[in-house]
Amino acid sequence: MDIKIFSGNSNKVLAGEIAQLIGAKLSKVEIIRFADSECRVRIQEDVEGKDVFIIQSLSNPVDENLMELLLLCDAVKRGEARKIIAVIPYHGYARQDRIHRPGECLSAHVVTKLIETVGFDKLVTVELHNEAILGFFDIPVTHLSGLSIFKPLVQKIKEDIVVITPDAGALKRSQKFSEGLDVPLALIEKKRDLDHMHKILSMKVVGNVKGKTAIIVDDVIVTGGTLLNAAHLLKQEGARQVIAAVTHADFVGGADKILQESPVDRIWVTDTISIPKEMRFSKLEVVSSSKLIAEALRKMIK
Ligand code: R5P
Repeated sequence: MDIKIFSGNSNKVLAGEIAQLIGAKLSKVEIIRFADSECRVRIQEDVEGKDVFIIQSLSNPVDENLMELLLLCDAVKRGEARKIIAVIPYHGYARQDRIHRPGECLSAHVVTKLIETVGFDKLVTVELHNEAILGFFDIPVTHLSGLSIFKPLVQKIKEDIVVITPDAGALKRSQKFSEGLDVPLALIEKKRDLDHMHKILSMKVVGNVKGKTAIIVDDVIVTGGTLLNAAHLLKQEGARQVIAAVTHADFVGGADKILQESPVDRIWVTDTISIPKEMRFSKLEVVSSSKLIAEALRKMIK
């Protein structure tokens, strides 16, 4: 096979599993940090004329992981690879996809330009916050739906199901999910406080959830605030149980503990972001995304 697969430090376990499923090994690379935190990357394999996949999630610490990705690409480009494919299981900055208030930057666009300028020829990514940012890219993008991973778990549920979209912006994703399962959809109207980070001002359920298993479908969990508030509301409205099916989990600020003690009964996430053992809790089920990603990469290998 004329390919090489490199991984940054953000999720080496997932990268290793993807490589194994393709029948390859992770290629050798040295990534060091100088005392002042600057990063240096040196690939230790010949990439000339090869198709090279670089796997890196842009999870917390986002900027460090982003820099590793960019430097890895530069090292590979200088080695005269034929094609360089960015495999970004979790795309950090994707949520900053629009300008909410005058004077704000457009971060998702800046990251797109960095990825393109450094020399990537193609991008493979999973469950973007908003598909609209695909329009920022001039290089081809394969956008995989992480939610498809949860379908077998949903199909085991025997009770009446209602899919919940936790805010209007996520409607398209939840609609696709509910249509695929042929179950109804309800909406939570969420209003954020744009002047205070992670603060939600109000939430309201639109639709019938009484006596049903409510499955909240979302792209990412960070503080857990969205799920916590949504679950309280859904239980108040009479939901029998509340399950969260969320592709990415980048827990911060004690989100693991908050969710364990919350009215959410079960939380399904994937491993696009590495979740350390100490942040795993009994309500949490982590489903692997390696097959989904490996399958997409396999299609690109000549
Ligand atoms: C927001 O628009 C996203 O889709 C997620 O709902 C949100 O980012 C989750 O963040 P948190 O867990 O901090 O509420």
